Amino acid sequence: MTNKELKIAYTEYTAADQLEQVELELVEAAIEATKTSYAPYSNFNVGAAVRLEDGQIVKGSNQENAAYPSGICAERTAMFYAGANYGDKAITAIAVAASQNGVLLASPVSPCGACRQVMAEYQKKGGRPITIILVGADRTLRFSSVDALLPLIFDSI
Ligand code: THU
Repeated sequence: MTNKELKIAYTEYTAADQLEQVELELVEAAIEATKTSYAPYSNFNVGAAVRLEDGQIVKGSNQENAAYPSGICAERTAMFYAGANYGDKAITAIAVAASQNGVLLASPVSPCGACRQVMAEYQKKGGRPITIILVGADRTLRFSSVDALLPLIFDSI
């Protein structure tokens, strides 16, 4: 028997503008995307921006529905749009931001399990790591691969 431990490496920034310009641009797109959120039930407006290997940015936001399970998170909206429209281009990064009443949350929003699973699969499909940037007004976190947010994923042990 061997006891093992996993460590998760990430970088914390006190302001998003400490990120490299290309990542800051993605952060700004995610914040912009919160404005297209349709969240009349939760009033929690999430925006996501995906960077494709050719440099283009695809945005998404959470879309809710009176039949609750029919709604979808911002991350999956953006990733599925990218998959549906630019399926031949690998996703290289995703930034996620959330606001309430038009104000960016101080702490970063953390993706749900379903979104992490979808990120992991697109990462595998693209054959290169997806950087994840979780944006908050006071704190922004950067993970250099989906593996950090979803270790021991099916197929990875
Ligand atoms: N939501 C996202 O879009 N992304 C996340 O990472 C967390 C949660 C959405 C789902 C729902 O529309 C609302 O936020 C409240 O949970």
